[in-house]
Amino acid sequence: MELTVLPLTDPKPRVTDESQLAFGRLFSDRMLILEFDRAKGGWHEARIQPYQPFVLDPAAMVLHYAQEIFEGLKAFRRPDGSIALFRPKDNVVRFNRSAHRMCMPEVDVDFFLDAIKELIRLEADWVPNSRGTSLYIRPTMIATEPMLGVRPSDQYLCYVILSPVAAYYKGGLAPVKIWISDHYVRAANGGTGEVKTGGNYAASLYAAREAAEKGYDQVLWLDAKNKQQVEEVGSMNICFIYDGKLVTSPLHGTILDGITRRSILTLAKEAGLEIEERALSVDEIFEGVESGRLTEAFGTGTAVVVSPVGEFTYRDRTVVLGDGKTTGEITRKLYDTLTGIQYGEVPDNHDWIVTI
Ligand code: COI
Repeated sequence: MELTVLPLTDPKPRVTDESQLAFGRLFSDRMLILEFDRAKGGWHEARIQPYQPFVLDPAAMVLHYAQEIFEGLKAFRRPDGSIALFRPKDNVVRFNRSAHRMCMPEVDVDFFLDAIKELIRLEADWVPNSRGTSLYIRPTMIATEPMLGVRPSDQYLCYVILSPVAAYYKGGLAPVKIWISDHYVRAANGGTGEVKTGGNYAASLYAAREAAEKGYDQVLWLDAKNKQQVEEVGSMNICFIYDGKLVTSPLHGTILDGITRRSILTLAKEAGLEIEERALSVDEIFEGVESGRLTEAFGTGTAVVVSPVGEFTYRDRTVVLGDGKTTGEITRKLYDTLTGIQYGEVPDNHDWIVTI
């Protein structure tokens, strides 16, 4: 399949004040589109075109049965002006795993990766320059066949849009407040918890709104069966420093196999921390903080990077980590190392960086 590049007709004004960047509100000039139609032999059209709205049939299957997947990765501006992608192949491989679980067609990893790189090359001046900012890349696939029967679609649009972003949370690296849900659950065994599909996020909104109304930034989800074991937070995996070890939930199908999670586990091991991939219970959070065994907690994710947690609330109990406002030493060190690799200040010894 050939990648066609269509001319850009109406470029948008560039970002002049990067301190005004938020998360995911502004989009670049161009997008990548791949079209799939089983009747036309599968993937049959790939183009980079001006960013513009789609025309979708009101019966398009994604609008009814949510057959959709997405990814999130970032491009970073480095001091020498070059642009770095962080572990992009891992995202494309995970995109295909999500596609498989949602009965959607997989993409050719190398073709898709090369097309994304070409898109970034063309949109290079949308990659912001300030430390902490990046160009967020959002690959997405939707079922477009107009049909109301419940079965996998025969037509799909796969597309990639780009958004220059700053920190996901307004407070940047300031610790977030987490509400532990004792009622709502995110994912059950055998479900789609590990899949990056929009429905998981839609299902989380009700609890997230309740948490926000109580003054919390995010919901921490517990396992669906016993509502005892920690699973993950709305937009991030979660790690604890417990007895000096890094403890994080194992990947058993209900939580996302985060690429930032993977990277942090590698960096933590290299920094001499013992890693325990095991389910931590709510009781351990409370007893751990109260006894001083649990000293730090942080979320990991492409969008949030590393996000320290300052406070947990479960039912009528609250625990505060440290003073609730200061980022822990280990969290800070892991954040500095990871972002140092991404921004080209720390050597990349793992081949995680793909320079454009
Ligand atoms: C990411 O970290 O890239 C994600 O996909 C989380 C997103 C829901 C904000």
